[in-house]
Amino acid sequence: MAHNVPRAELSEWCYLQGKAKAMQQSHLRDLAHDLDRNNQLTFRAGSLLLDLSKQKMDVSILKGLVKLAEAVELPKAIQGLLSGETVNNTENRPALHSALRLPVTASLVLNGQDVVPAVHDSLAKMSDVVSRIHSRQWRGFSGRAITDVVNIGVGGSDLGPFMACQALTEFAPEAANRLHVHFVSSIDGTQLSDLLGSLRPETTLFILSSKSFTTIDTMSNAHTALQWMLKDGVDKESVLAHHFVGISTNTQKMTAWGIPESSQIVFWEWVGGRFSLWSAIGLPIALKVGMANFLSMLAGANFIDEHFKTEPLATNLPVLLGLVGVWNATFLDIRAHSILPYDGRLKFFPSYLTQLEMESNGKSVDKSGKPVAYNTCPVLWGEVGSNAQHAFYQLLHQGTQAVSCDFIAPVRRYKAYPDSGEAHKSLQSQHQLTLANCLAQSRVLMLGDASTDSDENTPNFKRYRGNQPSTTLLLDELTPYSLGALVALYEHKVFVMSVLWDVNPFDQWGVELGKKIADKMTQALAGEAIDGFDASTQHLLKVIADITAGGQ
Ligand code: F6P
Repeated sequence: MAHNVPRAELSEWCYLQGKAKAMQQSHLRDLAHDLDRNNQLTFRAGSLLLDLSKQKMDVSILKGLVKLAEAVELPKAIQGLLSGETVNNTENRPALHSALRLPVTASLVLNGQDVVPAVHDSLAKMSDVVSRIHSRQWRGFSGRAITDVVNIGVGGSDLGPFMACQALTEFAPEAANRLHVHFVSSIDGTQLSDLLGSLRPETTLFILSSKSFTTIDTMSNAHTALQWMLKDGVDKESVLAHHFVGISTNTQKMTAWGIPESSQIVFWEWVGGRFSLWSAIGLPIALKVGMANFLSMLAGANFIDEHFKTEPLATNLPVLLGLVGVWNATFLDIRAHSILPYDGRLKFFPSYLTQLEMESNGKSVDKSGKPVAYNTCPVLWGEVGSNAQHAFYQLLHQGTQAVSCDFIAPVRRYKAYPDSGEAHKSLQSQHQLTLANCLAQSRVLMLGDASTDSDENTPNFKRYRGNQPSTTLLLDELTPYSLGALVALYEHKVFVMSVLWDVNPFDQWGVELGKKIADKMTQALAGEAIDGFDASTQHLLKVIADITAGGQ
């Protein structure tokens, strides 16, 4: 690579700018009937099929993107990521979430120490907790078995485990089915107060999940949970010993909070919060769907890691997904990206990706500290596609915004079984309807009016602009393995985009400030000095004080 040449001055970058300018003059419908192009824009890795044929690109553009990837030494960056180099330059850390899913036979040396044994020790400890709870050996202070587990965490300590638990419920073994797993994240106490009314202290276990073990959202929910456990005068030591598990990198803070060492499972600084569901942060997943299925998720992610590591760029799924993401956001200036799973089990996959993508690549300074001269991460959101058709698809079809979309669907679902009744057959036809909607919507977004019977007499309010690019990602079927592969695919896509943009995807200084200014505001709400604030904030603080006083 021309060392230290700013990205936007690379010849490969300028080539793509020229191609983008030309592409802006054409419409997706002009590309839609080229079967050869279509075949060259469809890729497979294991049970994942990636179809880029509805993207505003031709083969020459894809080749140009691969050349750009080579120019910025993406292969070297991939090897560096997976081998534990210090890729997080502002926190001086590796980002080794891939190590969490290495098989026990593998080894990965970091600072002279093989991390794989520690990873598998952590998995063994998780497995022990899961089996003790599933077999009802884990008893509360009154000797009763645990019936409810409440994970208290936020961001990466919540979104990933929550998403996976919702996606894989049907795979839970009998022993897990008896256990109710709940998630509490919001600082306002809504989820916790809703839950505490229906739970019994003697049969409830709280998992305090926090990489830092300082996040105020989590620590305030944890404090309330402890007070609730102690409300009937139960011995605090007994409560802490039987009803709290801590998952963190910070053993000192877990111990200081009162969690016995035997109830602590640690992970490591080289695991980013939004990349941590593969670590002990994933304990709620293992409790919900069983340790075997959790390990299957790890195996699916490891499959994609190996693919990412060994597959040539031009047929490497995370690389292709990342290149398309940069092509749309930076070269075609498409600043909105929607994640549309056509499967209700993936309902929370979009919200998981909002953190993974926007907390990673929502950056405007490159790795050398200079402001970037191009768009980076688009605004990302999403919803179950068939539901979103009754919500925001109007904007996609007839709005003024350019939006790129990811359509994600499992092909097989509701497998037939002997003497499966009419209801099951009806579910199977619902799945076919879902797939039909997935394909129909991406087609109309591509072709616009060309996909309808409109003509010159059709009024404008009924016209479809089309020309909205999309990727279609098909899973043979949704399983713990394919979910692991899907999540790893997006983790590595995010990394690919960060390398092309030359930003650090593994820090999140933008959110650290929020944690700090809230403290000062809390003091101001308590009536302490507010004159240090701007007029708008001072006014609101006064209004809140008046309303609060009026309500006393
Ligand atoms: O949003 C900022 C952040 O640090 C995320 O990166 C992280 O996942 C979340 O807060 C929770 O942090 P912790 O796991 O340390 O409580």
